[in-house]
Amino acid sequence: MSKYRLRCITCSREYDPAEVEYTCPVCGERKGTLEVIYDFDIVRREYSLNQSDIGKDGIWAFDFLLPFEGDHFRPNLLVGNTPLYRCENLSEKYAVEVFIKDDGRNPTASFKDRASSVAAAKAVEKGYGTVFCASTGNAASSLSGMAAVSKLKSVIFVPATAPQAKLTQLQVYGSKVLAIEDSYDRAFDLSMEIGLSKGWYCRNSAINPYLLEGKKTCALELAFSMIDRLPDYIFVSAGDGTVLSSFHKGFEDLREMGVIDRLPVIVGVQASGAAAIKKTYEGGLPFEPVDIQASSVADSICVGKPRDVVKACRYTHKNKGMLIDVSDKEILEGIIEMARESGVFAEPAGATALAGFKKCARQGLLSLDSRVVIVVTGNGLKDLKSPSSIMPALRKLPPDRKIIEEEIGEDRFQS
Ligand SMILES: Cc1ncc(COP(=O)(O)O)c(C=O)c1O
Ligand SMILES: [Zn+2]
Repeated sequence: MSKYRLRCITCSREYDPAEVEYTCPVCGERKGTLEVIYDFDIVRREYSLNQSDIGKDGIWAFDFLLPFEGDHFRPNLLVGNTPLYRCENLSEKYAVEVFIKDDGRNPTASFKDRASSVAAAKAVEKGYGTVFCASTGNAASSLSGMAAVSKLKSVIFVPATAPQAKLTQLQVYGSKVLAIEDSYDRAFDLSMEIGLSKGWYCRNSAINPYLLEGKKTCALELAFSMIDRLPDYIFVSAGDGTVLSSFHKGFEDLREMGVIDRLPVIVGVQASGAAAIKKTYEGGLPFEPVDIQASSVADSICVGKPRDVVKACRYTHKNKGMLIDVSDKEILEGIIEMARESGVFAEPAGATALAGFKKCARQGLLSLDSRVVIVVTGNGLKDLKSPSSIMPALRKLPPDRKIIEEEIGEDRFQS
C-alpha cells in the first residue's frame, strides 16, 4: 500500500506515482498540476516528532508527511529549522503581534532549498543523473547547491537579468548556466522544451508535484512552533504560486491528521506589476489563467505566466485566503523597515510580505489581538542593487579626523 497518490487540481483524477511523472495528461501542463495526497492512516502510524528532530534533521524531521517510502537519500545540507522571531518593534508599531520567519537563513539563502532538497532526493530515488530548472534565481541557486551535494549534474535556465549574486552562486556551485536574454516566462518554456527532450529530471515550479511538499515544511515548522496558539495571518509573497499553495497544503495536512483544528488566513502578496495570480483570482472560478507582461523590482516574483496559478487560486478560495498586491516603492521601503525594525535583511521578494502586511494593517483588516507571521523567503545579500537604489550615495572621506568628525555631526549619536 503506497503512502501517497497524485491528484489533478482541475479534474481530480488520481494517479499512482509510478504512472505519471509531472502533470495530468488529460488537463495538460497549466491546469493539470498535481497534488500529493496521503493515506493518513499510514501517515498517522509514521508520525513521531520532537523539537530536537527538527534541529538535527531540518525538513526531514517531517518525513512522515513527505512523499517518500521508508529510508531514502537526503542531500547533506541542513535545510529548514529557520529562526522565528517575535518582533517587538513591529508589534508595537502596528499594534498586533508580529513574528518574522527568516527563511533566508537556509543553506543557499532562500526558502527554495526546501523544495530543491526534495527534488534532489527524488532525482536520486528515480535514478536520474541530471536535473534542470528554469528560475528567477533562487530555485536555481538552491538546486545548484543540492545537486552539488547529491552528485547530480544541474542545468539552469535563468533570465540574464537575474541579480549578479544569484548568477555567481550558480557558477560557483558548478551548474551549467544558461543565461537567457528574455523573461523568466520564456526561459521556463525553453527549459521544458529542451530539458524534457534530453531526459533530465525537471525541478520546475508546479510541474514537479513534489516541490510543493518540500515547501510546505515551512508551514509545518510554523504550526509546531506555534502549536499553543497558531498565527491568525501568514503573509508570503507569490510569483508562480507554489510557495503560497504550500502554506495552505501544510496546514491542511496537519488538520487532516488531527494535529491542528484550524488554518490561519494565508495572504499571498504580489508585486503590482506582476500580479497575475491576483488578476486570475479576481476572475473567479474555475480560475482561467490571466497572463500579463510582468515588471517589478522584486525579480524573484516577477512572473507574468504563473505556472501554479490554478492551485494557488483554488486553495485561496477554499480556505478563504487573500491575494493582494503592493507597489515596487512599498517593497523597497519594506526592505529598509524590516532591516531597521527586526535586523532581518530581506531581498525584495522577502520584503514584499512585510509590505503586504502593512497594507492590510493600514486598511484596518487585522483585529487588535491578531498574531501575524511574515515569511522572509530570501536573504538581502542576494540582491544589493535594489536597496542600494534608494540609499543616499556614500560620501568618500579622506583619512582626516576633522573631516570625519564633521561627517559624524554633533548630536545624532550618543555613546
Ligand atoms: C525569494 C522568493 N520569494 C518568493 C518566491 C515565490 O515563489 P513562487 O514562485 O512559488 O510563488 C520566490 C520564487 O522564486 C522567491 O525566490
Ligand atoms: Zn486533470
